Amino acid sequence: MSCIVIVGAQWGDEGKGKFVDVFTERADWVVRFQGGNNAGHTIVVDGVKTALSLLPSGILRPGVKCLLGAGVVLNPSVLISEMERVRAAGADTSPGRIVLDRDAHLVLDYHVAIDKARERARGSGRIGTTGRGIGPAYEDRSQRSGIRCADLLYPDLMRERVRAHVEEKNKILGLVLGSDAQVDFASVWERLEQEASILAPYVGNGSKLLHDAMKRGERIIFEGAQGVLLDQIHGTYPFVTSSSTIAGGAAIGSGVGPRHIDSVVGIAKAYTTRVGEGPFPTEIIDATGEELRQRGHEFGTITGRPRRCGWLDAVALRRAVRISGIDSLILTKLDVLTGLRSIKVCTAYRRNSEVLDDLPALVHEFEGLESEYIELDGWEDDLRGARRWEELPSSVQRYIVEISKLIECPVSFVSVGPGREATIPVNVNQVLQGFIR
Ligand code: IMP
Repeated sequence: MSCIVIVGAQWGDEGKGKFVDVFTERADWVVRFQGGNNAGHTIVVDGVKTALSLLPSGILRPGVKCLLGAGVVLNPSVLISEMERVRAAGADTSPGRIVLDRDAHLVLDYHVAIDKARERARGSGRIGTTGRGIGPAYEDRSQRSGIRCADLLYPDLMRERVRAHVEEKNKILGLVLGSDAQVDFASVWERLEQEASILAPYVGNGSKLLHDAMKRGERIIFEGAQGVLLDQIHGTYPFVTSSSTIAGGAAIGSGVGPRHIDSVVGIAKAYTTRVGEGPFPTEIIDATGEELRQRGHEFGTITGRPRRCGWLDAVALRRAVRISGIDSLILTKLDVLTGLRSIKVCTAYRRNSEVLDDLPALVHEFEGLESEYIELDGWEDDLRGARRWEELPSSVQRYIVEISKLIECPVSFVSVGPGREATIPVNVNQVLQGFIR
């Protein structure tokens, strides 16, 4: 038996989907434990690209069971259309293969309306959310009024609660947020009632299923969404998402005790990106930033928004390693850096004579912060065909070794392209060995 957690070590979009897919070769379960369809995971199999937002990335490996854990917030309409899409591509989407934890909360139209209206009301102070209703759905969970997957089994009991929600949210939309948007109960209900009948057979007890699976010695991957720096508590608050994106979130959001987790894998790009607003100390505003964006196709999978690009930030990565207990790092998109004469890595921040080796807590404390860099040699070689460490140019090897030293964490794999095959093992621990052939 072994359980691994895979988390993004930056601000999301690090390439988690690809590695969850790589490790599912020998996994029995892939479990999402937080977030919802704000996430975007792209998997490329035999050159065919599949973008997923809710279904775990294991869905494309026959036989791997996929659980949307209790910590997830799920939009039933999005889930059903995603299931239809992967079914058309040949994936098994039957109940039992896909399980929705009975305690996972639903994202409904009024959450989306509130998310958008609240962002508009924030004006220049907006967070830059994905507008998918994620924050408002977690708000309902915290204030103990949310609708859960288990409620899908009792539509008659759910109906009046949904009506009360719609009435309350319409008041908030109009009176508090000054929005013209109003949600129509009849249309929300008509759709939800249909969706409940489709999704009811998928509802199960995720925590119990995982415990039974562990007793049978099965392998489980917990698939994080977003990244550690977007964690609701430990991220760059308030420019964060509304869930626990750190490795500890896997225990909370699945109902599996932390002592069952054998290894925590952090995924980081060989540079840094961020979507939406918020502090980004190593952001590159000039032509090099634009070059990275174009070459790395740095546009949101879900929203299409251009991602902000910057140098690798070892200070932020060290924070991610510490807070998530990352014991092995995977470095992705090294191929995107090809052609740069030199590559910078941030090693500390400085404010006047003060040196900081962690992100500040408050947004205004980022103002006037300078990043200190080391500069490493770039490379001209096309890395996309490399499959072994020995095939990487020495400057690439040096870059990887330097990062590993700076963050005090071994690098287990690097990635030089989007496909499963464009993966190079570096320093793979025993737990991860069990997940690959
Ligand atoms: P929300 O999760 O939609 O509430 O958005 C909050 C912040 O998290 C915004 O800055 C989003 O751009 C960011 N965010 C949410 N999901 C993702 C993701 O999957 N990748 C990258 N950023 C994300």
